[in-house]
Parts: sequence; structure tokens; C-alpha cells
Amino acid sequence: MKQIECHDVCYAYDGEPVLRHVDLAVAQGEAVALTGPNGAGKSTLLRLLNGLIFPERGSYFFEGWEITKKLMAEHKYSKYFHQRLGYVWQNPDVQLFCSSVAEELAFGPAQMGLSAAEIDERVQDALELFGLTRLRDRAPYTLSGGEKKKAALASILTMNPQVWTLDEPLAALDEKTQDWLVEFLQALKAAGKTLIFSTHEDRLLKQLADRQLVLNSQHEISLYGSES
Ligand SMILES: Nc1ncnc2c1ncn2[C@@H]1O[C@H](COP(=O)(O)OP(=O)(O)OP(=O)(O)O)[C@@H](O)[C@H]1O
Ligand SMILES: [Mg+2]
Repeated sequence: MKQIECHDVCYAYDGEPVLRHVDLAVAQGEAVALTGPNGAGKSTLLRLLNGLIFPERGSYFFEGWEITKKLMAEHKYSKYFHQRLGYVWQNPDVQLFCSSVAEELAFGPAQMGLSAAEIDERVQDALELFGLTRLRDRAPYTLSGGEKKKAALASILTMNPQVWTLDEPLAALDEKTQDWLVEFLQALKAAGKTLIFSTHEDRLLKQLADRQLVLNSQHEISLYGSES
């Protein structure tokens, strides 16, 4: 079985279908782009992969575990799951909730039960890597859009998940920051991480993706590129 598999997944909001019979399989270490027009269901599919919503029909397996409401209600499993699979939201305002940037970065590793020294080291490293050191004591809501995005990425990095899911990672970033982020994501890929990201940007298809999954306006998925 592949690391991530969806079989015949259907999902609707208030009876309005948003995912229709979605089948997909992603192997560990693959970089997969999720594309398609506005409203096709990309963000919905990412929410489902992150165990925030559940298939109404069909099934989703993560590393052989069927992700159901019941399983995610088990604190021990959901904690493990969220450490194994990180989610960078399209809008960082939804993601950031601590009172300072440093606390935001420390939250995940603290949940993991790491020692204070280990947490501190991870936070320092991530602050430096993302150029956020001078902003460490700032409240996240006072940051600029690009700074928030970096803080959101850094708060996932400190957990070092095996799988990264990212919703429109380049959106609202200037060119220099986009260049930097593409390199960062390439480095994650080179380190063997699995990446699944929605995007409208050609450069991510060219410079990062091994293959592309397209959700069409009928909310059906089609595959481009061969599966490994
Ligand atoms: N919480 C919700 N309640 C009702 N409808 C929703 C909800 N979230 C999303 N939708 C609808 O589901 C459809 C798919 O939305 P989704 O955000 O998954 O699309 P998307 O492919 O990510 O689009 P975009 O490229 O604009 O980000 C849209 O028609 C949207 O209005
Ligand atoms: Mg979206």
C-alpha cells in the first residue's frame, strides 16, 4: 500500500458535491501538485487528507490506517498523525494562534513532548532559517502577510513531519520570497519528505512536482504523469 491512498472518495457541502469519486495514491517521497480551477475542491481535498473532514463515501488511508472520525477522536492517534503530516494553510491567519512567533514555533514540538533544550534548538534553527529571529517576540497578527506565511511554515518545520501538505504555498509572496520558498521545498523533497501541494503556479509544476493531479470543474480527479 502507498503512504497515502484515497479510494472512491466523495464529499459534499450541504448536498453540493465537491469531491466526486476521487482515487489517488501517493508514495513516500513523492512531490505531487494538485491543480484545477477555483472551486474545484483542492483545499477540500487537502482538509480531508489532514483528517479535518472525512469521506462521505469511499475511504482514505494514511500509512495503512483508515482515517475516520472515530480514529481521529482517539487523542493518541490524532496527535501522532498531526506530527507525521503537517499542514500549511492557504491563509496563515487561520493557522497562527499563539501570542508570539517563538511560542508559535515551540507549540508543535512541545506537544510532541520534546525536552526544553530540544525545543529551544529547533525554534532557534527555524527562526534563523526563515529570517524570523528579529520577529521572535512579535505577536503573529502584527506580521506582514509574507512574514506570517514564513512563521506558519516555520511552525511546521519545528515538528519535522514526514509529509507536508501545502495549500497555495506561493500565494501572496513576492518574487524573492517565492524563489526562496521553492528552494526550501526542493530541499524538503531531497530529504525524502512527501509533498502534496495545491497550486496555480507553473513554476511549482516545473521545479518541484514529480507529477500533477488535476481536479476539474466537475470535481473529478485525473492524473497527469506516471505513478511511481
Ligand atoms: N465550508 C464550506 N461550506 C460550504 N461550501 C464550501 C465550504 N468550503 C468550500 N466550499 C465550496 O466547495 C467548493 C470547493 O472549494 P475549495 O476551497 O475546495 O476549492 P479550491 O479548488 O481550493 O479553489 P481555489 O483555487 O479558489 O482555492 C467551492 O464551491 C466552495 O465554495
Ligand atoms: Mg483552495
